Amino acid sequence: MTYCAIDFGTSNSAVAISTAAGMKLVPLEGAHLTMPTAVFYCTDRDDLPPGAEPAPAQTEPPLPRVFGRAAVQAYMDGYGGRLMRSMKSILGSPLVEQTTEVGEGYGVPYLDIITTYLRHVREHAQVASGQALTQVVLGRPVYFVDEDPERDAQAEASLRAAAQAVGFESIHFQFEPIAAAFDYEQQVQQEQRVLVADIGGGTSDFSVVRVGPERMKRLDRRDDILSHHGIHIAGTDFDRHVSLNSVMPVLGYGAFGPSVGGAEPRPVPSRVYFDLSTWHLINTVYQPARVAELKSMAGFYGNPVHHTRLMRVIHDRLGHNLISRAEQAKIDVATTGLATLDLGLVERGLNASLKHDEAAKALEADLHRIVDSARETVQRAGLKPQDIDALYFTGGSTGLGLLTDQLEAAFPEAKAVRGDRLASVATGLGLHAQRLFQG
Ligand SMILES: Nc1ncnc2c1ncn2[C@@H]1O[C@H](COP(=O)(O)OP(=O)(O)OP(=O)(O)O)[C@@H](O)[C@H]1O
Ligand SMILES: [Mg+2]
Repeated sequence: MTYCAIDFGTSNSAVAISTAAGMKLVPLEGAHLTMPTAVFYCTDRDDLPPGAEPAPAQTEPPLPRVFGRAAVQAYMDGYGGRLMRSMKSILGSPLVEQTTEVGEGYGVPYLDIITTYLRHVREHAQVASGQALTQVVLGRPVYFVDEDPERDAQAEASLRAAAQAVGFESIHFQFEPIAAAFDYEQQVQQEQRVLVADIGGGTSDFSVVRVGPERMKRLDRRDDILSHHGIHIAGTDFDRHVSLNSVMPVLGYGAFGPSVGGAEPRPVPSRVYFDLSTWHLINTVYQPARVAELKSMAGFYGNPVHHTRLMRVIHDRLGHNLISRAEQAKIDVATTGLATLDLGLVERGLNASLKHDEAAKALEADLHRIVDSARETVQRAGLKPQDIDALYFTGGSTGLGLLTDQLEAAFPEAKAVRGDRLASVATGLGLHAQRLFQG
């Protein structure tokens, strides 16, 4: 079979191919069936990290690169180069037209990072399937961009162009939460209405789908898809709030400048803290012009230690390291109620903490909007909360009890079912690809 299905996620990706035993996820990195959506461009050719691959012929920049866990590890281990993460978030944004520096004077158009990653993923899938894969079902969030159909269409067109550039000839899209419903359907004994909640890194996506053993056999499922909706708020936004709450204040976020001539001190400019707390914007802070500007801002700081720490983070390119610590704190606090963040890299002995109540407060507004989006999805299906039989959770962020508790409370009569958090969408996209291409 020459088809596959790709769940290109903001944080993690997975691919399904057709095998004698049905659609199966492909090992993308060692035995792992999912891989972080991460590329590391290596600028130090004399000291390459494990897993570095030469740039494919006729691609720019001509720098070796590393993918997935190995990319994150190369960055953490301090190899020369630049880490790219959350590339999906640039789809539909003005950045998609722009170029980012990867060091050594090389620039790479943002969309090319996505192309590079998709090429790598397709090659792995081809090795696993033993043949060229030319047809693909790509997952997409319900909205790449909220409330802007034109930019949303551009986002899909950009992703299509990237898929074309790596050799796919027939490209279809399916909404991620509908794919997850198809995966859930495989375990269903009787017909029911399910509300799928797929809360990932970049988007929270919902669908209401009529699923059942008989329904599953039909090719045309349009009558069964009762609604879909979503919002561009998810795990990477939670990380931003945690970072702004716990990490950025030690670098001066929320602090004030010196008092000059008895005037009220002015707040320290905050943009750099937002950029450092937003996965896909971190690299913008390392551009030489930006670094020079930030360096010249020492006078804006009442406490010079803040500025020194900020410049250390920028000089040592600690942005992804710090946001990863915020992400881990978000996960830890959900399980233990308290997280400690070791910031010794910034300054020896420096720590920060995150308590459960602080996390709840920092995420409160986002969680409300996500639950509202779920309610709206059910309304759009012309249904009431009590008409929902099952609530199916997938996506990494459904590890957050704060969130799933609120969703369960909004649909008290629905049976909560937890799916495979990282594989459900890819499996469902695979089932869709099979129906579409096996013909
Ligand atoms: N135990 C956990 N508790 C809370 N959040 C978690 C947990 N494990 C992973 N996450 C979060 O899940 C997110 C990644 O989920 P997932 O892999 O489903 O996203 P994605 O598919 O890449 O993104 P999207 O579908 O939005 O494009 C990250 O933000 C990560 O921090
Ligand atoms: Mg996802």
